[in-house]
Amino acid sequence: MRSHYCGELNEQHEGQEVVLCGWAHRRRDHGGVIFIDLRDVQGIAQVVFDPDTEESFALAETVRSEFVLQVTGIVRLRPAGTANADMGTGRIEVLGKKLNILNAAKTPPFLLDEHSDVGEDVRLRYRYIDLRRPEMAERLRFRSKVSNSIRNFLDENGFLDIETPLLTKATPEGARDYLVPSRTHPGHFFALPQSPQLFKQILMVAGMDRYYQIAKCFRDEDLRADRQPEFTQIDIETSFMNEEQIMQMAESMIRKIFIKHLNVDLGDFPRMSFAEAMRRFGSDKPDLRLDLELVDIADLMKSVDFKVFNGPANDPASRVVALRVPDGGRLSRKEIDDYTKFVSKYGAKGLAWIKVNDIAAGLEGLQSPILKFMPEQVVQDVLARLQAQTGDVIFFGADKAKIVNDSIGALRLKVGADLGMVREAWAPLWVVDFPMFEEDGEGGLTPIHHPFTSASCTVEELEKDPANALSRAYDMVLNGTELGGGSIRINQPAMQQQVFRILGIDEAEAEEKFGFLLSALSYGCPPHGGLAFGLDRLIMLMTGATSIREVIAFPKTQSAACPLTDAPGIVATKQLRELNIQIRQAKTE
Ligand code: AMO
Ligand code: AMP
Repeated sequence: MRSHYCGELNEQHEGQEVVLCGWAHRRRDHGGVIFIDLRDVQGIAQVVFDPDTEESFALAETVRSEFVLQVTGIVRLRPAGTANADMGTGRIEVLGKKLNILNAAKTPPFLLDEHSDVGEDVRLRYRYIDLRRPEMAERLRFRSKVSNSIRNFLDENGFLDIETPLLTKATPEGARDYLVPSRTHPGHFFALPQSPQLFKQILMVAGMDRYYQIAKCFRDEDLRADRQPEFTQIDIETSFMNEEQIMQMAESMIRKIFIKHLNVDLGDFPRMSFAEAMRRFGSDKPDLRLDLELVDIADLMKSVDFKVFNGPANDPASRVVALRVPDGGRLSRKEIDDYTKFVSKYGAKGLAWIKVNDIAAGLEGLQSPILKFMPEQVVQDVLARLQAQTGDVIFFGADKAKIVNDSIGALRLKVGADLGMVREAWAPLWVVDFPMFEEDGEGGLTPIHHPFTSASCTVEELEKDPANALSRAYDMVLNGTELGGGSIRINQPAMQQQVFRILGIDEAEAEEKFGFLLSALSYGCPPHGGLAFGLDRLIMLMTGATSIREVIAFPKTQSAACPLTDAPGIVATKQLRELNIQIRQAKTE
């Protein structure tokens, strides 16, 4: 139906007759001529109808936004002074000879240029219109190209693309499962996979050697900008490779993708232990584009007469840290109060601070609500350790280590962003030497990754001191986002059973839930490991989008619903009966 795409036209087409198809992006009537910006997947071309072509001109007058058109016309240079440098096709226009309205359109719920004024709910309900925006289309095109490069890389490196089931048994990755009732097995449910973790391990037992899949994963968890209930992993598993080799391979894949699609060389990724990341940044996914660091000062606070600090300073499970913010002295009281509210969301009970107005003037040069609680020498020692300078503000956190890490780690990012201290850069790293477990808040332990991650010690050592055991896991972090993670897996039934015991899963439960895995491990399971990247997160970072919803064609809302289809929906009683399901009356308060 067409000879050219709108977006491909330029001066070289001058004088040619072209046939274009697309949507009426905008129509303007100007002193007797009608301009229609015609948009297709490649871009926008300006079409002009003048009254000489009577029939087409009359038709053009009836065109409204988002009508679907076919235009035949002649490409010509725009008159001097009317070129548009912002437009790829800005030097030319098409003199319309023939207009064919292929389809009319209702008045769109929002104009493409004014999408930001409408709520996301409206954008998602009319996603087919939202996706017409060149910016959105470009992100999906970019995503398609990157996926393709990833497939090529993995294919060239001997990986087999193998599909694994979606109707399966629960694979724990720390979230709730999405369940699917079975009609043929009344009272039984499939779980949608939180990841293909167990199947990819079983493929290694099956001798497939190298597996990958661009796989949909399902997790019923609290949603955020970088989390969706349904998302896509680049899922990878290999046999007979150690963590060093797997990290090298994964790093080289990501580097190649960045060079090819962004012309950016990320260089060699630095490594940082989990312990160091927590100590310096309060986070296991530190954003290294920002120089601010947490500095421990518990040793200086052990005997001060200020409960807020000396309590945590004398408790091994707590931390007392200071965060020096150069030039933060310009923050107002109101801004500092807002930061105090901000850290309270992470459980912090307050946010002590010192402003350094004049470092040379001793105590006189400081301003702070806590100076009265501390001997001068302690204050001087803190300033010296932080290398404080005139103009700084210093924030303090004192509490259980988790609260301090979460709150001051988040404060670091927020203050850094607010004060414009985050460098324009790419800052990748590997975080390694994770502990196997963390406290679950109910007196037990829970895996930091998943329960199939190998410990870097023996089964006996793991049994003796699980809380301090390290794992053979690694996470790839980019600009403060966890892009991917993986590990060397347990390939011995004894180690796997030990991990289940530590997690409070007894033998009967282990057999019922993971008997198939334990069985597979006992039939010649090779040493194996792998990792998975979040494809949505990768594309979000590469395109500079602020949320993964901006790089997914049909994402869910914050409340895990789809406004386009109105899913999840109610089902007919007959269907429920077939599934042996009875809905309890929802409780009304
Ligand atoms: P993990 O749970 O760390 O590991 O997931 C791997 C990567 O998937 C992405 N991701 C998400 N992206 C969007 N929305 C979500 N809800 C979401 N959850 C995770 C992240 C994360 O780094 N089976 C293991 C991998 C392995 O050990 O090989 C796993 O799933 O980018
Ligand atoms: P208070 O004695 O509770 O009034 O606190 C004195 C100062 O210490 C105030 O600036 C509080 O914001 C701050 N503060 C209180 N609790 C903490 C805490 N856990 N960590 C850091 N600062 C705190």
